[in-house]
Amino acid sequence: NKKVILDLDTGIDDAMALAYAVAAPGLDLIGVASSYGNLVAEGAAENSLKILELVGHTDIPVYVGETHPSTSDHFDRLPVSAHIHGENGIGDVELPTPKRKPEKQGAVDFMIESAHKYGKDLIIIPTGALTNVAAAIKKDPAIVDLIGNVTLMGGALTVQGNVSPFAEANISQDAEAANEVFTSPLHDTMVGLDVTLRTLLTKKETQQWRDLGTNAGAKFADIVDYYIDIYAELYPHLDGCSLHDPLAVGVAEDPSFVRTLDIDMIVNTDKEKYGRTIGDNTRLDDPNPSVSAAIEVDADRYLETFMNYLTNLFKNN
Ligand code: BDR
Ligand code: CA
Repeated sequence: NKKVILDLDTGIDDAMALAYAVAAPGLDLIGVASSYGNLVAEGAAENSLKILELVGHTDIPVYVGETHPSTSDHFDRLPVSAHIHGENGIGDVELPTPKRKPEKQGAVDFMIESAHKYGKDLIIIPTGALTNVAAAIKKDPAIVDLIGNVTLMGGALTVQGNVSPFAEANISQDAEAANEVFTSPLHDTMVGLDVTLRTLLTKKETQQWRDLGTNAGAKFADIVDYYIDIYAELYPHLDGCSLHDPLAVGVAEDPSFVRTLDIDMIVNTDKEKYGRTIGDNTRLDDPNPSVSAAIEVDADRYLETFMNYLTNLFKNN
């Protein structure tokens, strides 16, 4: 099985990504890193511990990651998306205080250690800012040739962004870090808005979880309904909420869910187009581009798999 590290800013779709990862038979989740974004990094780690407890997987360690963007200029704009994910990041649904604490080791060191231990078998799945991965590369540049893949939720290549016409939220939290990761030799699979806006979940599905009559089913239905309500307000043209982060986990397990364009990419860091993910003009003839950008998705097959995995998980918890 593929060894995976999730790197989450544990908001609502991150919580679904975590549930998907523990349920996926082809993935061996070795740890969960935390990032800032939907809320602060310590809060994200606490939410991951809560969700793991809710779904009965208290064996998976959680590591706190970097708390701020890599460039100090942006310290004044530590952004938290309480308006989309609720004050507590999980739709203001109350879950018990977790029995466990995060590990003493930090997320960046855990990534470096795992890269040396598992090499090409390791996939890192960031669903928040790329600050932790960039920090790991900076601390130990050798890991770019060790790690199998970084399968990230972020960016937009063929559609507009969701925080500005140019930028998607995760990338715009730390465009400098994203540019480091995209332009390094490390192979990235970008699961961006191009595909995540096409995988949607509605209250019909969350009701199926509630109907299971279990605690996990009920809590997840409440958490995700909060997200569906916000989506209805913000994006009235969409039928449901986007499965941004869980789609990245799906692609890590089964890359055939998406069709990709292989292309070297850069991330704009100038003020005007901050966070734009775009092809690199200077490397268009590279025979081995370092990014595979997802541009099409088999949404029906993905949604079916998503519902199978999560329903089975919630059924027993
Ligand atoms: C991304 O932004 C976050 O709010 C979501 O969790 C997702 O990772 C979508 O742009
Ligand atoms: Ca996220």
